[in-house]
Amino acid sequence: METIARVAALRERVREARRQGQRVGFVPTMGFLHDGHLSLMRAARAANDLVIASIFVNPTQFAPHEDLDQYPRDAEGDALKCAENGVQVLFTPTPEEMYPSPTATWVSVDALTRHLCAQTRPTHFRGVATVVTKLFNMVQPDAAYFGEKDYQQLAVIRRMVLDLNMPVEVVGCPTGREPDGVAMSSRNAYLTSEAREQAPSLYRSLQAARAAFAAGERDAGTLRMQARQTIGAQSALEVDYVDVVDPDSLVSFEQRVGERAVMAVAAFAGRARLIDNLRLDPGQ
Ligand code: PAF
Repeated sequence: METIARVAALRERVREARRQGQRVGFVPTMGFLHDGHLSLMRAARAANDLVIASIFVNPTQFAPHEDLDQYPRDAEGDALKCAENGVQVLFTPTPEEMYPSPTATWVSVDALTRHLCAQTRPTHFRGVATVVTKLFNMVQPDAAYFGEKDYQQLAVIRRMVLDLNMPVEVVGCPTGREPDGVAMSSRNAYLTSEAREQAPSLYRSLQAARAAFAAGERDAGTLRMQARQTIGAQSALEVDYVDVVDPDSLVSFEQRVGERAVMAVAAFAGRARLIDNLRLDPGQ
């Protein structure tokens, strides 16, 4: 595996791959890699000739009060994991390389970023969309791989690619889960043992909603209330939101849920904020 820190060197490496007619797959990450990330790398490996991953803790997607400085890092361990999971080029730009000057240009996907996680993180998604645009311009991948755990992020990136005619296939990959159902996340490292014990309640609430949906429940209020009660009963967790939304537009179902729906939940757990989601419709 090659590790490249400069944009110019990365571009040269990609040009060489293109000259050889190679298909390029890209996995953008912020590091502190877990099995969910590694499954994205393996998916990229299976469908591309050259796999590029990036590790960059992107300052523009953190609000001033958030955990940019404490975000967990493990450069050596991450490099090993990348190499073992099919990554051929690891791109590790510094903040100065990525943002030589404070950015004056932002990419905002307005319609999808007014609710769900955007309510507690109002500037987060423009930071994500902006850095992913920059990374796409640097790597120019044929396909890019994202986890479905960050469902809103995936929807934002899909919409951005559509609206801005970016020639990239966006591939969503299933959420990696711990044996007890907790969605894998680098920030799970922040959980106290009590919060970690109670964290499976998010997935439990989603599974219960899926079972209720399968049994014919279509009242959005009932589905939301049941999930809210399951998570709210946990002393170490505080519900941020529970919502049932259209899978593409992310518009909330106020009353009757459509035949295709995603349930999304988020809870505060001390320094951490847990998020999870599940398709309610069958066959997903
Ligand atoms: O999902 C993440 O790790 C980040 O939001 C991403 C897509 C790498 C952009 O910084």
